[in-house]
Amino acid sequence: MAHATPLAPELHTLLCRMPKAELHIHIEGSLEPELIFALAQRNGVALPHPSVEALRAAYAFTDLQSFLDIYYAGASVLLHEQDFHDMAWAYFQRAAADHVVHAELFFDPQTHTERGVAMGTVIHGLRSACERAQAELGISSALILCFLRHLSEEEAFATLEAALPYRPHFIGVGLDSSERGHPPEKFARVFARCRELGLHIVAHAGEEGPPAYIESALDVLKAERIDHGVRCTESPALVARLAATRMPLTVCPLSNIKLCVYGSLAEHPLPALLDAGLCATVNSDDPAYFGGYINQNFVETFAALPQLGRAQAYQLARNSFEASFVPAAQKQRWVAQLDAAFA
Ligand code: HPA
Ligand code: ZN
Repeated sequence: MAHATPLAPELHTLLCRMPKAELHIHIEGSLEPELIFALAQRNGVALPHPSVEALRAAYAFTDLQSFLDIYYAGASVLLHEQDFHDMAWAYFQRAAADHVVHAELFFDPQTHTERGVAMGTVIHGLRSACERAQAELGISSALILCFLRHLSEEEAFATLEAALPYRPHFIGVGLDSSERGHPPEKFARVFARCRELGLHIVAHAGEEGPPAYIESALDVLKAERIDHGVRCTESPALVARLAATRMPLTVCPLSNIKLCVYGSLAEHPLPALLDAGLCATVNSDDPAYFGGYINQNFVETFAALPQLGRAQAYQLARNSFEASFVPAAQKQRWVAQLDAAFA
């Protein structure tokens, strides 16, 4: 962050206090080292790192895969419904402090079912935390089931089958994990089935993968939002298409730096995406691993990029509501709250 300038206090306060939706958060990526150790002890799971500090020190990533290896290892402490509840509840408390009023959480069932954890254990634990967040914090939320793209389409079909008894508990499906070499079209048939089931469709594309993966996420999977999508900047025609259709991009600035997609926040294309008229949003991705929750993403990104000011703060929060999967009347209520925060 060589070019970071101090953020004006008023802008800092506005970024932190404005109501916002978070649309790109892997709930397993909110597992803080302290909770990993507490759950390991509670469940008698052995960890490869001797201490919280040693684990945190291992969070020096060179690319997406180097992160995913540690992220999947961290999730190995999750065994019981209570564990999933505790993880998501910890996230919701952080989200409430950041003035998140709505969150759409990704979860990776295959990371758990392949260790013998039942689909119902995962979904019930997360759902109970979602209900508690509504009751105790006033945060609305929804779950999006992600397929791991390094596994086969057949395994994705089996995962969908296992999740169908819990169909009312999740609103959509996504695609995450190792992007390079695993294009969206690998999952064409399973996403077609998901569309028939009335599920919302999102997909990670254009994080490490080329702009062509964003195009196939749109054309083949019929994605309604693109997660990351930042590499669209390499194709002016694609940027124009994304802008014309107001296709949301769930951008995660701190993630992009930690996974070496960009050298520094000063090089991040967020200002260019907004200038091009894209429906870009700011999100935390895996906050326990990437150095901060959603407000930290806003504050550090705005501090590093002087082109971002009050107008962009408003636009990003407004985009987060526009891009959310909630009824239009609810979006309007949140936008009214946002307008009040900027009045
Ligand atoms: N990209 C792909 N897969 C992921 C990510 C990500 O940023 N975080 C968790 N799984
Ligand atoms: Zn992600």
